[in-house]
Amino acid sequence: MSNTKGLKIATIGGGSSYTPELVEGFIKRYDELPIRELWLVDIEAGKEKMEIVGNLAKRMIEKAGLPIDVHLTLDRRAALKDADFVTTQFRVGLLEARAKDERIPLKYGVLGQETNGPGGLFKGLRTIPVILDICKDIEELCPNAWLINFTNPAGMVTEAVLRYSNIKKVVGLCNVPIGIEMGIAKLLDVDHSRIRIDFAGLNHMVYGLDVYVDGVSVKDEVIEKLTDPANSSFVKNIEGIGWEPEFIKALGVLTCPYHMYYYKTRQMLEKDMKNADGEGTRAEVVQKLEKELFELYKDPNLAIKPPQLEKRGGAYYSDAAVRLITSIYTDKRDIQPVNTINNGAIASIPADSAVEVSCVITKDGPKPISMGDLPVPVRGLVQQIKSFERIGAEAAVTGDYNKAVLAMTINPLSPSDTISKQIVDEMMEAHKEHLPQFFKKIEA
Ligand code: G6P
Repeated sequence: MSNTKGLKIATIGGGSSYTPELVEGFIKRYDELPIRELWLVDIEAGKEKMEIVGNLAKRMIEKAGLPIDVHLTLDRRAALKDADFVTTQFRVGLLEARAKDERIPLKYGVLGQETNGPGGLFKGLRTIPVILDICKDIEELCPNAWLINFTNPAGMVTEAVLRYSNIKKVVGLCNVPIGIEMGIAKLLDVDHSRIRIDFAGLNHMVYGLDVYVDGVSVKDEVIEKLTDPANSSFVKNIEGIGWEPEFIKALGVLTCPYHMYYYKTRQMLEKDMKNADGEGTRAEVVQKLEKELFELYKDPNLAIKPPQLEKRGGAYYSDAAVRLITSIYTDKRDIQPVNTINNGAIASIPADSAVEVSCVITKDGPKPISMGDLPVPVRGLVQQIKSFERIGAEAAVTGDYNKAVLAMTINPLSPSDTISKQIVDEMMEAHKEHLPQFFKKIEA
């Protein structure tokens, strides 16, 4: 990385509707993060969207008066060549595939949950071979780059990169922890900068072991507030339906919105089934939202991130991404929660596995802060999801059908091996074109 030349960023999945978030973040932090080139790269199917969002990015940068060149390309290798940071935000099979991930399990009376649930398994099976291919290109074309992955299931994907690629400079990133920090700051009516949370767990399975304002623990007060249903989710894509006060107080740690699926499975299933028969699954709602967003993005007079983007679940995504990249670049040594190799920080998880944990962010990447053992009430569920992530990643790499059935069965949202196999079979067929690793085997 050279201060004189400025930085090159390559964003894979550049046609995503979230790109203006990222660009807004780069603009805000330009003083600390002198980017010279932003390369948006996508596949043919995403070309039109990339052009629309890329032109908006150009207008945003022009309005800010910054010397950042925006390149739009379908040539991933050209985008990666000598990049300093590679961000990945792609969706294999687009939102149509997510809709299947969410809908098919519902037919069997099972939640789809597109990240750590049955749907997430299939998202992982589609995504992992692609990210590993990207890793090979990174090794060859920009071996010193940091890979910052937002693609879900971010935990399973980070696990796969750590285990099955030669890339060591990888960080998995999510907006949930920053969303929780912001939400709690609002609940307590204090500035976000005064809040610190000790995060520990896995992506979308992370807990706040303690929470401080100016270094003083306010955990009990915050847990009390979490018992109000209005405060039980901090992201737009999951409606908080409230915790039983007895449960959340005895749990003794802060939950993340995705815990609703695991501790309130029946109610969430009923809600998702109702939605599926009404306004549609979340993917279907997002498809409509995306249409509106891209219509707005087309407006040649628009040169800011439109507020409508805040209806998406990824709020604060740019803050999380750009503050991470900035801290690596400037060796800031501030504390941020990210997905990285555990290295013993959480005693209950293998040292070589990916965890989501508060880290000190240095020029050599995130250094996880030691959290000791996870408290007994949450340890089992975290370990179960870690097993799911590991077996899911292994199935994605090997194309082993039995391992896919195993991963589905050990997911806490699945009720049985038989139902898991039925769901796997239907989803394999539905996603066939994006799962060549399984079909090559079966046909051989
Ligand atoms: C969350 C998660 C992301 C996820 C997003 C979905 O907050 O952290 O991992 O991709 O929301 O939002 P959407 O608007 O696509 O449903």
